[in-house]
Amino acid sequence: MLFFLLFLMFFSFFSCTFALSICYFGMLQVNEAQDIINKRISNLHYPASPERLYEPIRYVLALGGKRIRPAFALLACNLFSEEIESAVEPAIGLEVFHNFTLLHDDIMDKADMRRGHQTAHKKWCDNVAILSGDAMQIDAYRHVAQAPQSKLKEILDLFSQTAIEVCEGQQFDMDFEHRNNVSLPEYIEMIRLKTAVLLACSLKMGALVGNANTTDASLLYEFGINLGLAFQLQDDFLDVYGDVEKFGKNIGGDILCNKKTFLLISAFNVADDSSRKELEKWLTIPDANPQEKIKAVTDIYNRLNIKQICQEEMDCYYQKALHALRSVSCPEQRKEVLQNYASRLMQRES
Ligand code: IPE
Ligand code: IPE
Ligand code: MG
Ligand code: MG
Ligand code: MG
Repeated sequence: MLFFLLFLMFFSFFSCTFALSICYFGMLQVNEAQDIINKRISNLHYPASPERLYEPIRYVLALGGKRIRPAFALLACNLFSEEIESAVEPAIGLEVFHNFTLLHDDIMDKADMRRGHQTAHKKWCDNVAILSGDAMQIDAYRHVAQAPQSKLKEILDLFSQTAIEVCEGQQFDMDFEHRNNVSLPEYIEMIRLKTAVLLACSLKMGALVGNANTTDASLLYEFGINLGLAFQLQDDFLDVYGDVEKFGKNIGGDILCNKKTFLLISAFNVADDSSRKELEKWLTIPDANPQEKIKAVTDIYNRLNIKQICQEEMDCYYQKALHALRSVSCPEQRKEVLQNYASRLMQRES
């Protein structure tokens, strides 16, 4: 009889494990979250035809990337719940959406390289990258819509609000290329929209799936916004000071597009008369030699010590992010995973 009971317990434990498929009775680590996502992404099936619609999607998703957004969703879910399987499909949706924004962003920014490879619009053409991006955006919704029924409306509202904000941020980013008087607050609002809200949305979405309360979900959103601002400042920094091999994008792209990055705005803010005139000159020469322009503007940044100003600003938002995370009510050990991940992201070179 005892043997029979033990057998039953053993059997029911395993059937439960298989049925739930992913149920962590410990803490999910960042690399485990990334492995789950990468495995699911490699199993995504897109039709063979039309080839020029689906091949760029397969291409960009296979190029990898850091998978920060889906990892955030799974880690945020795991702060409150052992059951993370319900967060996987929404997490995939967030990554597909992010990759859609990259396809379109690379057209808008005239970027030739992404993740160490040719950008989709270079490999194919603008029209192909536009339409593949459109299809990815729709596909992203399909994945996010697999979120648990009880949370679906809130999650879809959050996702739609975020998606529209990303568009707003991207439009401000392009508008600013043609303005030379962009203020720091205007810049911060632009990067909040184009970058930070998607990171924040990923964390909040994971938290909602994990049944976090409203306060904790909002605190994670706030963590994501501040970390996202620091993350975009780092991206601006690496666009000038990064190593092309590690960064995977061409260095100096922002300078060539006259992007109003944190570096350029700070340079204008601290420049003496002659440096300001020099900067203005480089922003207005219509057919400047690209390498000469990148070198000249970088030299001005070096002279004005912009590197340090940028690091300080990044650290300020990073500290604000940590402050929000500290107030989340869940086991400290679980928060450490997110905290260490955030710290690693602040040291990133890619
Ligand atoms: C690139 O995002 C776009 C920005 C918001 C700066 P990531 O740096 O997360 O890109 P991948 O996905 O890792 O390539
Ligand atoms: C990216 O900003 C924001 C979005 C993709 C929505 P950037 O234009 O700076 O990103 P990278 O540097 O091309 O990755
Ligand atoms: Mg851009
Ligand atoms: Mg870009
Ligand atoms: Mg950039």
